[in-house]
Amino acid sequence: MDAQAPPTRIPPDLPPDLKAGLGKLAHRMSRNMIAERAAAQSQSYRAGGGSQAILTSDDALAYAFARMPATYAAATAVFNAMRETLPAFQPRTMLDIGAGPGTAAFAAVAAFEILADIRLIDANASLRNLGLTLMGEAGSETLQQVVHRQSYSHGDALVMLAGTEPADLVVASYLAGEIAGDELARFAQLLWAATAGALVVTLPGTPEGYRRILQMRGELIAAGAHVAAPCPHERPCALRPPDWCHFAQRLPRSRDHLRIKGVDAPFEDEKFSYVVLSRAKPPSLGARVLAPPKITKGAITAKLCTERGVVTDVAARRDLGAYRRRKSWRWGDSVSQ
Ligand SMILES: C[S@@+](CC[C@H](N)C(=O)[O-])C[C@H]1O[C@@H](n2cnc3c(N)ncnc32)[C@H](O)[C@@H]1O
Repeated sequence: MDAQAPPTRIPPDLPPDLKAGLGKLAHRMSRNMIAERAAAQSQSYRAGGGSQAILTSDDALAYAFARMPATYAAATAVFNAMRETLPAFQPRTMLDIGAGPGTAAFAAVAAFEILADIRLIDANASLRNLGLTLMGEAGSETLQQVVHRQSYSHGDALVMLAGTEPADLVVASYLAGEIAGDELARFAQLLWAATAGALVVTLPGTPEGYRRILQMRGELIAAGAHVAAPCPHERPCALRPPDWCHFAQRLPRSRDHLRIKGVDAPFEDEKFSYVVLSRAKPPSLGARVLAPPKITKGAITAKLCTERGVVTDVAARRDLGAYRRRKSWRWGDSVSQ
């Protein structure tokens, strides 16, 4: 690959082996029943509950059908961003904390071919069992090895992380929202202690998700972490309420996904907030596009997070070079002005 060319982006839709594994399991359940359970779970999440409502193997499958496509898509977006800002990062080992059905591990083997050893932890037995079944059917040797090596542990992350052997890549995908507020700082420190290379924390792109990400980011910068994405600086965030930093990843909805959600649009936009923290200082970071740029006949206007703070970047059409460069900018991209 050309040293200057950005890495090819991994696509946001579930890989064929994962789709096939889910499809095989869903044979035993009616789509209506999956839809009912998924609706009950999403109501419980909206009411501030966590994954405790997922009790049985059917509940776990309903979670995977309703939410895994979106959390997988968010994981691909974050890994794509990370491969741009940490181009030399080649993780051989990974820890997926609060791994559920193994969403981030599936995305990680697509993003980092060199990954050879993945350990996972989750407190929910049904989600863990589903993850093991899906990984047993996966095309990736590394995922299959999780089953053979029994490297998916059942237990509380706050207990299991203490003293665990560090991994090159540590991921907590959609987990930190389920950690008690007064444990969040300790949780961040435990994750960091388990990180040999880079730590990824992702949460729903809500003000509360962002607030938790910011708290963990601040905690770990103070402990020596470098920010690799999305922020191009390590100072406090310059956004002020009611604004908050979040991004969106569009993903296709399969026929089952449409039926289970009872919707018509063939795609959805998953909103997420995230931070990538690295032990090594990343090479120079570009500005981050914080919202969809506005394109009019006369100009392109983009909201950017830069080393100088949040700025409104305007390129008039008559400035052809600058206007053309900005035409390809998308919300979430790392760009040079
Ligand atoms: C919303 S799910 C996310 C699953 C997966 N990481 C994903 O992105 O699709 C949250 C997961 O965190 C797990 N979890 C919540 N609190 C936990 C804890 N204290 N220790 C370990 N796992 C926990 C839940 O059981 C659940 O599997």
